[in-house]
Order: sequence, then structure tokens, then C-alpha cells
Amino acid sequence: MPADGEHRALLDDTYKLFSLTNPLHADAFPSVRQMEAEVVAITADLLGGGPNGPNLNVCGAMTSGGTESILSAVKASRDYMAERKGIREPEMIIGVSAHAAYWKAAEYFRIKLHVVPVGRDFRLSVANVRRYINRNTAILVASAPGFPHGLVDDVKGIARLAARAGICCHVDACLGGFCLPFVRRLGGRVPPFDFSVPGVTSMSVDTHKYGQAHKGTSVVLYSCPELRAHQYTRITDWTGGLYISPGLAGSRPGALIASAWASLVHLGEEGLMAATRDIINARDTLIAGIRSEIPELEVIGEPEMGVVAFRSRKPRDINIYVLNDWLSTRGWHLNALQAPPALHFCFTAMNAVSAPALVVALRQGVAEQLANPQVAAEAARRGSAPLYGMANVTLDRGMLGEFLVAYQDVMLIP
Ligand SMILES: Cc1ncc(COP(=O)(O)O)c(C=O)c1O
Repeated sequence: MPADGEHRALLDDTYKLFSLTNPLHADAFPSVRQMEAEVVAITADLLGGGPNGPNLNVCGAMTSGGTESILSAVKASRDYMAERKGIREPEMIIGVSAHAAYWKAAEYFRIKLHVVPVGRDFRLSVANVRRYINRNTAILVASAPGFPHGLVDDVKGIARLAARAGICCHVDACLGGFCLPFVRRLGGRVPPFDFSVPGVTSMSVDTHKYGQAHKGTSVVLYSCPELRAHQYTRITDWTGGLYISPGLAGSRPGALIASAWASLVHLGEEGLMAATRDIINARDTLIAGIRSEIPELEVIGEPEMGVVAFRSRKPRDINIYVLNDWLSTRGWHLNALQAPPALHFCFTAMNAVSAPALVVALRQGVAEQLANPQVAAEAARRGSAPLYGMANVTLDRGMLGEFLVAYQDVMLIP
């Protein structure tokens, strides 16, 4: 299995070797510079760029993670649209299933955000995006796949809308970039989602997710260097000297670049394919298990890769958040979703073996709630269940926001 001890030991050893390097000083650390360029090239190659891809101009940079890749792409796209189209009050359209990082980007970069519904199939469609486009629209966003339900949006349709309007289209492939190409090679159904789609202008792809690298790295790709240049900060009259930096950070950990490079080179396409095969088998085991053995639960949509979301068919009998708390006490870690109330499990190369055990645990958890409704009702007043229960019914988002701030404050108390 690729994500085993040997792979991790290689990453850890590589990190140690490069722990004092910093690509801000490319002249001092030429090998780190080379590795960043190669990680970007490997990623572009997989996603419609590179010498064999339909778009030879695809280029990019490494960042600290998916959020930073998204922030970088949104900032560059905003500034590119200001230059190209004179858009001074930029707007961005995302689906409700887009990652929280877009809210952050809109907040940081003062972009008006339209959060639009997804379709009945939980995917963002052209119809839902089109009606929000106006002369200030600078960026459309599609996910491949989205975090909540693991479903790929209509990238082709949304990118076509962007191309017609002459604006940017970012595809969030933070989860999918190192997995979907291999799902396709294994014969799975994957709609077009990368630079082979005309109109896609940028993508975020996380090495620290399905690239199996240490946490702290991602790749942001652009359809052309002119767009990428708007991510850079150049200062020509600073007393500290001539300054150019590609992204949000100044100094960066060269060790993470080196270990991400080691991860991709060690895995190769064979390793990524093997991991994807395990992940897809695990997804199929969970989906088949829920459909055949747990009629109280319903899988949401037809996920292309290893993120499987499900909800209760009978919320009066099965409280999905109580089920989540029950699973947590037994060592499982699932993500709680809202609107609609649901859970998801994200299969990786490391945890794919656990799919049959998860089906058993879900069956037991559901059976316990059905057998002990009073205990379940009591459990709905403890743990995370009441918070999520409240989040799904309260209209007072301000109060919930205050709660989140208080929670974050507490987390930062030593
Ligand atoms: C689809 C998607 N986009 C973006 C992100 C943000 O990535 P990060 O947590 O690395 O900042 C995630 C994280 O799970 C994600 O699933």
C-alpha cells in the first residue's frame, strides 16, 4: 500500500535533510527551487497542462495548502480582471457546496460573493450560476469535487459561461486533482474538470491530500503566465532590495516542498493509481453496504471518488448527529454537514481498509438509536448533536457566529 510506513519514513527523512532551506532565497537553495518547479510540472501534466496537454501554457506555484491556493487564485483572478476588463467592484459566484476558503477570499480581498444553490443532484449547474452573472462578475467557481458531498460540478458548462463572458473560472480540485485522473483511467465516470476544458483559468490541487505529502503543501495552477503574475508581489524601490515573492508567504519551508516532491516521485502514477483503486473499492463497499443493509440512511448523489456523504431518511427516528457522536465514541471520525443534515466519510489510501468495519458500525449505531429512542433523545442534548441541531433550525446566524468566535478563543488558550 502506498501510504504505508515506508512512504512516511521517506517523507520524514526528506524533511530532515531540507529542514533549514527557504525557497525565498532561490540562489542559496537551487535544489528546492527545482523541486517546486517539478511538483508544479507534474501536477500540470496530470491536469491538461504539460508538453502533451491541450494547454501548453499551464503554469503555477506551490502554496501552504488548499486554502492558500484558493486565496491566491482568487486574488490573481480579481486583479487580472481589473486589468483586462476594468472590473473595480468584483463579484464571485460559488455554489453552496464550495469550500469555506472562498468566503475567506471574498472577505480578505473585498469581493462580493454570490452563494448559489446546487441542483437536486447536489452539483452546481449552469442554470444556477447564469442568473447571477453581471458586468462586475470576475470569477466563477466549480468544485471537482466539493468537500461536503464529494460530487463534481458541471465544470464544462460553468467554464463555458466564463469563457463567453471573458471572465475567470477557478476549479477547486484540492481533493480531486491527484485522484480523479486515476478514477478515469480505472474506467470510472469522471466529467471533464481540468485544463482540457476551455474556459478553465485556474485550479487548486492539494499535494497534502491525495498527493500523500506532509501537511502544508498544495499547488495552484493557471492557464497562462499573465494570470499567474497577478499572484506575485514585486517591489522595486524597497530599501531592503529588489523583492519578488510568488504568493502570500515570504519565507517558506523548503523542507515541505522537498517532501512533497519526494512523495510524488516515490508514488509515481503507479502508486497514485493503486491508491485510487483502494479508495474507489472502499467507496463502493460503503455505498453498497448502506444501500443493502441500512435502509434508514441514504447516500447523497453518486460520488466520483472517495468522499461519501449520507443522511437519515427518517430524521425523526435517526438523528444523524447523534449517530455521529456515537461513532466518535467508538473511534470513528466523520464530518458533520448541514443543509441538509448529513455526515461524510473521506476515504484515503490509509483508511480504505476500514470500509467494511464502517458499514458494521453504521448498522450498529442505527440499530441502537432505533432500539433506544429515549437514549437517543437524551444524546441529542449532549455532544455536538445539539449544536448542529440548532445550526440547522436557527435563523440567528449572528449568534452562531459569536459562538464560533468564542470556541476559537478557547482553542487558543494554553
Ligand atoms: C474541496 C476542498 N477545497 C479546499 C479545501 C481547503 O484545503 P486546506 O484545508 O488544505 O486549506 C478543502 C479541504 O478539505 C477541500 O476539501
